[in-house]
Amino acid sequence: MSVYTSVIRPLLFRCNPERVHDFTISYLSFLQNIPGVSAFVSAMYKVPKHPVLETQVCGLRFPHPVGLAAGLDKNARAYRMFGAMGFSFVEIGTVTPLAQPGNDTPRLFRLPKNKAIINRMGFNNNGVAYAVERLRKRNTSIIIGGNIGKNKVTPNESAVQDYVACFHALYEYVDYFVVNVSSPNTPNLRELQDKKPLSDLLRTLMQENAGKEKQKPIFLKIAPDMNTEQLDDVVDIVITTGISGIVATNTTISREGLDYPQEYIDSIGAGGLSGAPETQLSTEVIRYISEKSKGAFPIIGVGGIMTPEDAYEKIKAGASLVQLYSGFIYEGPSLISKICSYIISQKTKK
Ligand code: FNR
Repeated sequence: MSVYTSVIRPLLFRCNPERVHDFTISYLSFLQNIPGVSAFVSAMYKVPKHPVLETQVCGLRFPHPVGLAAGLDKNARAYRMFGAMGFSFVEIGTVTPLAQPGNDTPRLFRLPKNKAIINRMGFNNNGVAYAVERLRKRNTSIIIGGNIGKNKVTPNESAVQDYVACFHALYEYVDYFVVNVSSPNTPNLRELQDKKPLSDLLRTLMQENAGKEKQKPIFLKIAPDMNTEQLDDVVDIVITTGISGIVATNTTISREGLDYPQEYIDSIGAGGLSGAPETQLSTEVIRYISEKSKGAFPIIGVGGIMTPEDAYEKIKAGASLVQLYSGFIYEGPSLISKICSYIISQKTKK
């Protein structure tokens, strides 16, 4: 048991989940500006270095393949501290062109018996200009991804404009982009995953990218709830539009594998489920895409990575990089170094 799981988590889990989240981000954001704190945290959560961990994806060099998934540092407030904890990359966002409050509270629920989370945050964020301000002060070498979305008030027919606006605003400040059309918490957003709107959106972003002096990698983040026909379309679209790859997966709308009474699950209501119940589902999506595309493009694997073995399963299924969200909430920062040590042990096994 780590200090996190034996002391910190029990304290944090006594309080309202969203308040804990907001407090933690504010606290980390404050701490990262105090000289010496980042170095102290880095020393505490030392991540091993080894050539087998080094990963090159789309020209970006990652010292190891473990990053922070989108949604935790939505407004780019604490990425330096997450870097100090050991993540090799942080995906900020989802950001939208304008600030928006998201859905009504309560909208974030822990399901500790299953090491799971249900959320229907609804892209609450301070708007892309705020994130840009935060990233302007970036004095760290950590790789940053910019996860972009559309405002709730923007109809799907004009969604492309929102993605393009975020792309241009963030372009100078992030190393790669993720197009998020897979959140279950913005009404009708997932319809943008259909063949025609998705191809149009990605083609437009690729044109905007081509107009820049240096092109940035663009990934598409997909839901784990797609059938094989939809996944085949996605593979086809990635190849025909020429985007860099896929982030698989977002949260699921399924409620399978939960050890809670049905009435309790129903009382929580709509939202995306993440954590341990999603592990297998998202690994299978990664495996399917990797096999279907014959490894033609990189996949960033995310969804239910709670243990080093879960992370390695995703890598074996075809992921080049992995990301944590729920696993980080349940297991704490030491999960990063544990995953890295496990990968070294597996890859150097005689
Ligand atoms: C998320 N996730 C998410 N994803 C995204 O692309 N944009 C976002 O704004 C958010 N917001 C968000 C909030 C909360 C509270 C959670 C729990 C999750 C999804 C996240 O990045 C990840 O894809 C899933 O949570 C699956 O991974 P884990 O949590 O099982 O490791």
